[in-house]
Amino acid sequence: METLEQIVARGLGADGINAMVAAFYRRVAGDDLLGPMYPAEDMEGAEERLADFLRFRLLGDPVYQFKRGHPRLRMRHMPFAIGEAERDRWMDLMVAAMEETGVSAEVKEVLVPFFAQVADFMRNR
Ligand code: HEM
Repeated sequence: METLEQIVARGLGADGINAMVAAFYRRVAGDDLLGPMYPAEDMEGAEERLADFLRFRLLGDPVYQFKRGHPRLRMRHMPFAIGEAERDRWMDLMVAAMEETGVSAEVKEVLVPFFAQVADFMRNR
């Protein structure tokens, strides 16, 4: 059985992660629920942080750790009110970004549950 990391390395790669995250942030910027939560003046920075994190977590690329240290994702999301609606919208936008950038069914099959688990863990209300 291949692991999540092996499937992503073989089927998506760094370029695929970057394209997916860019498509995700194009959607976030115009989203009525999530858009206002993100720093309008630093959407490029936000995009870079998520792409760096995913290349770190899924491909072992150390850049995120050099720049940001330990991810501490739950703590870093505490300033934002994240309930079921925000969690579900985040997932909707990420699934749409995967479809837009042609992420394969095989990669989606492992990435969607991964994102769903992390997104649910970020709920703080
Ligand atoms: C559940 C719904 C979620 C909401 C509403 C949300 C919202 C946000 C917001 C507003 C930020 C600050 C933007 C910035 O970097 O300046 C952020 C940062 C971040 N989010 Fe989320 N997020 C969610 C789920 C997730 C998930 C599922 C992941 C990972 C799979 C994730 C990974 C990150 C990372 C890596 C950062 C940057 C952390 C850092 O400062 O280094 N988020 N998120």
